Amino acid sequence: MFFVSVLRYALCILVPLSFLLSSYLYLYPVFHLCAFPAPEDPPKSAFLNTLRQHTLSSQNSSKIAPFRLLTLGDPQLEGDSSIPDAEAATFPNFSKFRRDALLLDGTKHNPLQRLRHSLHDLIDFLLDDIPKALEVYRKRLDHIGNDYYLGHIYRTLHWWTDPTHVTVLGDLVGSQWIDDDEFEHRGWRYWNRVFRGGIRVSEEVASQPAEDFQDTIILGDDAEAWKKRIINVAGNHDIGYAGDLSQERMARFTRVFGKANYELRFQLPVNSTPATNTSRKVTLEGGDDSEADGEEEKPVPELRIVVLNDMNLDTPAGSTELQDETYNFLNQIITTSHDVTRPAHFTLVLTHIPMYKKGGICVDGPFFDFFDGEFSDGVKEQNHLSADASKGFLEGIYGMSGDSWVPGHGFGRNGVVLNGHDHEGCDVYHYINQSATPERYWQAASWAEAESGRYDDEAGVVGLREITVRSMMGDFGGNAGLLSLWFDEETRDWRFEFVNCKLGTQHIWWVVHILDLITFGVGIAYAGFVLVPKEPKSNEHAKRPEKKENGTVHMPKIDGNLDSPRAGKKSF
Ligand SMILES: *[C@@H]1O[C@H](CO)[C@@H](O)[C@H](O)[C@H]1NC(C)=O
Ligand SMILES: *[C@@H]1O[C@H](CO)[C@@H](O)[C@H](O)[C@H]1NC(C)=O
Repeated sequence: MFFVSVLRYALCILVPLSFLLSSYLYLYPVFHLCAFPAPEDPPKSAFLNTLRQHTLSSQNSSKIAPFRLLTLGDPQLEGDSSIPDAEAATFPNFSKFRRDALLLDGTKHNPLQRLRHSLHDLIDFLLDDIPKALEVYRKRLDHIGNDYYLGHIYRTLHWWTDPTHVTVLGDLVGSQWIDDDEFEHRGWRYWNRVFRGGIRVSEEVASQPAEDFQDTIILGDDAEAWKKRIINVAGNHDIGYAGDLSQERMARFTRVFGKANYELRFQLPVNSTPATNTSRKVTLEGGDDSEADGEEEKPVPELRIVVLNDMNLDTPAGSTELQDETYNFLNQIITTSHDVTRPAHFTLVLTHIPMYKKGGICVDGPFFDFFDGEFSDGVKEQNHLSADASKGFLEGIYGMSGDSWVPGHGFGRNGVVLNGHDHEGCDVYHYINQSATPERYWQAASWAEAESGRYDDEAGVVGLREITVRSMMGDFGGNAGLLSLWFDEETRDWRFEFVNCKLGTQHIWWVVHILDLITFGVGIAYAGFVLVPKEPKSNEHAKRPEKKENGTVHMPKIDGNLDSPRAGKKSF
């Protein structure tokens, strides 16, 4: 029974190892201390708070941000069309061999020719088809594993960090050039493997900007549904750049992933804000006019989320009709905005291509390429928006200005821009220096630099933070962003905080699961050897009551077998 003892020793190592590594993989946000930043300052308290949420039923709601956005960048699901020689899996040379050997296509070969052709096909089958097919199967397995790896990130973080909303910032699939069937199939994988349990933002929810703000949703209402909804952003690999973006591509994106342009408005429930002092409310009800007025003047804290397809902001575009749609949407967003002076308002833009900045600030520098002779010579590729389009964001959507004499002193609206595209991720502060003379223009600095230089506190410097979320693909460490947004009663304004949480490469996922599989296999083999009923060899053995008991007390029995090899041989 040497073999059984080898299995047993292997299990002694494999079981604890599998257990440890699986625990690590399935609890990785815990080990990496991931948590949504808490409104109260020390970052460690955020993690402890999340831990408390999972261990105790009580939680301190003032320490939890009311808006917690799980942000994921560029999953880029690949599929068969990204596998070279995918047709090798159908073994074309084997079909050819059959045709040539059986003369199926009616050619008249003499026996020697027939043999030569058939052998030739057979060699091609063995040395060409089979290796290629194995590679195709390996790639397909790789894609399946990758789906589950990405799904693991989503599910584990969703469970541990408890977001209120989820967004995927574009490039949901890996290519805009795939045919409709392939697109549908990847869409199926997106919803059934990667984001299983997630749902599309329906057309009814994805509202168009309107003057009267009647679609405002109370933050926290319908919380279960919002937790499941995935706010999908359209990326260049989903619908194409301005050049190759077509009605058909847009239509299938909308069908599978949701609309590309819409806005969502939330407001904080009145009285949920902690500083609304209860004793004050009593005086309000008691009819103390001066107090009541002071209370009512406070505007309701509002959050506006703009989901924007910025793929065709720059020109030339292949479809001017679609470009007009984007422009119209953007104009609507701008014209239906609150006054820049309205406090307690926050604008969150979710889009794909990052804003313009000089080279060297992020990994991707400015880059444009155009089609030549097709698609109306439209944009073929771009790393950033043009400087003009970026200025449109800052001065249009956010109402910022280099001129301090405009309403709100040019400080515009509070907010942040989140996007993807640059897989490496980036964190940038776009600013304009009102005191710089004579020329004022938009500049960008890394957020670290801006923060240490305290640019946002500097008088006359107006700016906005842009966070490019690092890709969730394994090659980029399986990253996810955690954005917390809360209302600060002291400043009467919104504040946000953003942190990253990484799982590590996809290899970790593979290793752990393969190890688990091996452990399981070894366990089964071991159980098979130990539990399989043995032939009763003598009357003494036959007297033993039940096989089951043999199984449960197998440890001492094996030892006995080891001591006397003959007994082991017999039972084998
Ligand atoms: C609430 O208001 C009462 C009376 O105005 C005051 O004494 C108390 O300190 C306030 N509490 C808070 C938390 O602001
Ligand atoms: C803004 O301009 C002023 C005056 O030129 C200069 O002193 C200041 O350093 C500038 N600030 C930034 C952040 O560039």
